Amino acid sequence: MAGKISLKNKGPIIAPSLLSADPLAVSESIKSLGGLHDWIHVDVMDGHFVPNISYGPALVSALKKHYPAEVLDVHLMVDSPENFIEPFAEAGADYLTVHVESTRHLHRLLCRIKELGCKPGVTLNPATPVEIIRPVLHLVDMVLVMSVNPGFGGQSFIPEVMQKIISLCRWRIVSDLDFLIEIDGGIGIDNMQEVVRSGCDVLVMGSAILGKAEPAEEIMKMRKILKEEGLDER
Ligand code: DX5
Ligand code: ZN
Repeated sequence: MAGKISLKNKGPIIAPSLLSADPLAVSESIKSLGGLHDWIHVDVMDGHFVPNISYGPALVSALKKHYPAEVLDVHLMVDSPENFIEPFAEAGADYLTVHVESTRHLHRLLCRIKELGCKPGVTLNPATPVEIIRPVLHLVDMVLVMSVNPGFGGQSFIPEVMQKIISLCRWRIVSDLDFLIEIDGGIGIDNMQEVVRSGCDVLVMGSAILGKAEPAEEIMKMRKILKEEGLDER
C-alpha cells in the first residue's frame, strides 16, 4: 500500500508537482518522469486562499482515467474546502490534503475526507504553529509541512519550518501514530538529504523535477545520492 511506503521501511517518496509542467503537455510531462517517481502531486489553487489559480477536479479525473495506477496526491489550497472535497474524491484523489487555515471545522472535514474514501492530509502555512494540528494527528494519513508560502512554484525554502518536522517526528513516536510527513516548497537536490534526515517521508518537488529539461535524469541523480547516503534502500 502506497501510504505505508516510508523512510521507516525503504526510502523517501518522490512526488513531482504538476505545477511545473507545461499545462498544454501534462501527459508528456508525466511520460518524462520515466516511471521513476512515486506519486503525482496536484496543486489546487482558487485565487482566494492563495494568490494564484490552477486546476479543478476535471484534471484529477482525467489523470485517474488515463493513469489509474498513479497515486494522486491532491493539495487543496482553497477557501471553504468543505465545498470541494466531494468533487475531488469523486474525481479519484488518493490523498486529499487541506490547510488548517482554510476551515473552521478541521476535525469534521478530515473525518468527511476519510468517509469519502480518500486518505486525509492536513497542512499548514510556514507561519502557522504546528501545535495547532496535534489534536487531529490521529485522524490523518499525512501531514504536509509547507516550506514556502503556498501559491507559486520556484520559491526559496524557509528553513524555520524544520523545527515542525522534529516536533511531528517526536509526536508520531510518543503517540504511536503512523502518518507520513511530507514537505513541499523549495526542495531540490541540494537540500533533500537534510529534510529526509530530519524525518520527511514524502518530497514534493516542482521546479527541481518537472522544471528541468530531463526530469527522469533528475530523479535518477537524486535517488543515487540518497542511496549513497544510506537514505534510500530501494
Ligand atoms: C506551492 C505548491 C508546491 C509547488 C512547489 O504552493 O504547493 O507544490 O509546486 O514547487 P517548487 O518545488 O518549485 O518549490
Ligand atoms: Zn503543493
